[in-house]
Amino acid sequence: MRFEDVSLRYGAGPEILRHVDFHLEPGSFHFMAGPSGAGKSSLLKMMYLAQRPSNGGIQMFGRDVAGLSRSEAALMRRRIGVVFQDFRLLDHLSALENVALPLRIGGQRADKVRKHVAELLAWVGLADHLHALPPTLSGGQQQRVAIARAVVARPNLLLADEPTGNVDDRIAVRLLYLFEELNKLGTTIVIATHNETLVSRFSHPVLRLSAGEIRLSRSASPPGGQSTKGSAA
Ligand SMILES: Nc1ncnc2c1ncn2[C@@H]1O[C@H](COP(=O)(O)OP(=O)(O)O)[C@@H](O)[C@H]1O
Ligand SMILES: [Mg+2]
Repeated sequence: MRFEDVSLRYGAGPEILRHVDFHLEPGSFHFMAGPSGAGKSSLLKMMYLAQRPSNGGIQMFGRDVAGLSRSEAALMRRRIGVVFQDFRLLDHLSALENVALPLRIGGQRADKVRKHVAELLAWVGLADHLHALPPTLSGGQQQRVAIARAVVARPNLLLADEPTGNVDDRIAVRLLYLFEELNKLGTTIVIATHNETLVSRFSHPVLRLSAGEIRLSRSASPPGGQSTKGSAA
């Protein structure tokens, strides 16, 4: 993924992102951090092709996204797993059916996917809720169904928007381990979060947004690699 001097404004509003330049290698794992309103969700939207930049270029999987036809963009989106901040589960389908959906769309048979999906749901702590409809689950439980759905088909790229926003610290760390497992299998990961404590517990590099600009840093350390941990950046 490559962003080249990307800027974004909504309508005639102010520029909320500017001069955004970065390159993510296949197989990398990054946090995207920054306070609420910094533009994390907007940047993710551009990554999953739901928002065009106002200026600048975006390449995904080595292709310039501006030149993609609708069907090419749709195909590219199937390589991307997204955990939406508002989950976007289908309320009339059970947790199991929601998570099975990407596999079913990919052509796999219901009986084949059931075991795999049930195991994944058990892993995120929902073994007792396989047949529950999303509206009967808590926010944190729905979030975990959304995460399971995003990872089940082993996408090339996983984008997660505040995926631990509704769970306690213990489950948040467990979900991060799930993302790390997926990363070990080759999936490139970007996790947007405003939770600096969570970011500091892992050593993954951080795309840090502030005042519309982006910079790359490691964990809670300041840029440049100095090890004066804890200084306000
Ligand atoms: N669809 C939209 N239309 C207009 N302004 C938006 C829209 N989405 C986000 N914004 C604005 O863009 C800024 C960044 O928002 P967002 O990307 O949601 O940040 P974050 O996810 O870091 O909280 C905020 O000022 C927000 O109000
Ligand atoms: Mg957001």
